[in-house]
Amino acid sequence: MMKNFATCKNSLSEVLREIQGFKMFALAAASDFQNIASVAPSSRRLALAMLEGLPVDRVRTVIELGAGTGAITRVLLEYVPPQATVVAFEINPEFVSYIRKTLSDPRLVLLNARAEEAGRELRRLGYSRIDAVVSSLSLRFMPDHRQRILQEVLSPFMDERSVYTQYQYIHGMRYENGKISRHSSLPFLRRYFRSVQCRTIWRNLPPAQVFTCRGRITKDHALGARSIREHRNAALPAREPA
Ligand SMILES: C[S@@+](CC[C@H](N)C(=O)[O-])C[C@H]1O[C@@H](n2cnc3c(N)ncnc32)[C@H](O)[C@@H]1O
Repeated sequence: MMKNFATCKNSLSEVLREIQGFKMFALAAASDFQNIASVAPSSRRLALAMLEGLPVDRVRTVIELGAGTGAITRVLLEYVPPQATVVAFEINPEFVSYIRKTLSDPRLVLLNARAEEAGRELRRLGYSRIDAVVSSLSLRFMPDHRQRILQEVLSPFMDERSVYTQYQYIHGMRYENGKISRHSSLPFLRRYFRSVQCRTIWRNLPPAQVFTCRGRITKDHALGARSIREHRNAALPAREPA
C-alpha cells in the first residue's frame, strides 16, 4: 500500500515536472523562436530514435548540443554506462537551471555555453575524443557559415568511429530574408560523413527526420582524396594541343 502510494507520488511529480517543462519551452519559443526552433520538447520516441544508431552501452564521452529542457538528455542518461560522461551545451539560462533543478546525475556536465564553444570547453575539461554527438540544434535557422564553424570545432575530437545524430522537422521550412523556403540538412551532413542514414519519426510534435551519420571525413581523408586525385591526374597523359 505504502509502496503504491510512493510510486503514485513519484509519477505525479514526474507529470508535474513535464508540464512545467512544456510550459517553459512554449514560452521561450514564443519569445525566441529563432534559437528554440520548436514549440515543444522532443518526445521520448524522437529521443530514442536519436540514440538508436549510437553504441550507447559502450560510449565514454557523448556531447549533446542544444539540451533544451533535457528531453533527450534524460533518455541518454538512462542508457549510457556508469563511467560515461555526457557534456551538454545549452544557451538558454532558464533551461539550464531547470535541468539543474530537475536532473541530478554525476555523469552529466551541463554547460550554459554555445555549441560553437565546444572545442574550448572540451579541451578545458580534458577530453581529446568524443564517441558521439547528439545534436538538436536547428540547422535550418543556422546560417551555413555557422554550421561550418561548428563542424570545424568538432572535427579534432571526432574520428572514423564517432557517430553524429541530428534531427530536423519534417516540414523543413526555413524563413530567411523575408522568404520561406524548404531546407534539408542532408546535403550539408553528407559533406562531413561518408554515411548518413535517415529515418522519419511521426510520433513527435512536429514529426521529425533523424539523421545518423557515420564515417567522419577527417582532414586526413580529405587530403588522401586530394592526393589520390592529384596522383590520378599526374598519371593522365598530357592533352595534345588542339
Ligand atoms: C529544438 S530545441 C531542442 C531542445 C531539446 N534537445 C529537445 O529535443 O527537446 C533546440 C535547443 O538548442 C538551443 N540552442 C540553440 N542554439 C544553440 C547554440 N548555438 N548552442 C547551444 N544551444 C543552442 C536552444 O536554446 C534550444 O533549447
